[in-house]
Amino acid sequence: MDFEEGFNADWLQNKLNEQSSIIGRKIIFLKETGSTNEFADNLVKKGSEEGTVVIADSQTAGIGRHGRSWFSPPGKNLYVSVILKHPLPVNKSGLLSLMAAVASCSALNKFASLKTGIKWPNDVLCNERKLGGILTTLKSSGDFVKHAVLGIGLNINISRDEFPEEISATTTSARIETGAELSRKDIARELLANIDFWYKKLTSGEEEDIISTWTKLSITLGKKVTAKTADGFYSGIAEAIDDKGMLLIRLDDNSLKKISSGEIINLR
Ligand code: BTN
Repeated sequence: MDFEEGFNADWLQNKLNEQSSIIGRKIIFLKETGSTNEFADNLVKKGSEEGTVVIADSQTAGIGRHGRSWFSPPGKNLYVSVILKHPLPVNKSGLLSLMAAVASCSALNKFASLKTGIKWPNDVLCNERKLGGILTTLKSSGDFVKHAVLGIGLNINISRDEFPEEISATTTSARIETGAELSRKDIARELLANIDFWYKKLTSGEEEDIISTWTKLSITLGKKVTAKTADGFYSGIAEAIDDKGMLLIRLDDNSLKKISSGEIINLR
């Protein structure tokens, strides 16, 4: 099945086999599914191998972070999930989403000539509007990851009037930002090749490269932020991320607060 001229599992798999060794060993293209993350979760239960990729042209129940839905119309955007099985220490699992954000920004900046940046931990923004997001689900066994599903949604060719009203002021797409129709297949290929590159770094203990590239792409660090977390709101200057991807905020009383998960709701 082709999503558009030549954009199919065989093409992508051949391209990736030239460049990568883990991600894209098996690729499944779906015209429509509820959520590629859920589809991939079911594949994991059936024993699917590491590096399996699920791509859908549309999702009827795309899942976002913090219980939100992910707008997923057909023919426009990228909805991708990747199955990972390396027994990464659980305390480093936050780096999976960070590396996916790095991989997404680099692919967009290269193929769409965009200037995207990352809002901690893994929102892909362009001109202060959200262009892409990442949702990672994982199961652990003891202190190690048993399997993870890395879900990536990137708004590529959707135009402003196609967004639902409630997200249209805060969301954007590569096409809105560049004024040009872009090739989903080139961006998908680059994205998956990038994930392969960063995943190999992560699994071979070279995660400091992920941290330093994330830091270069960050639009959060150095800014005054308010973070919404499970145990309350914290305001201060976002100073850095640590080696596990946690955000370090210098609070107004000069103490340092480490945040492992949450949402930046205010960025100045
Ligand atoms: C976010 O809210 O920022 C995360 C959005 C993640 C969306 C992607 S699209 C592919 C994969 N399948 C899903 O249902 N969600 C993720």
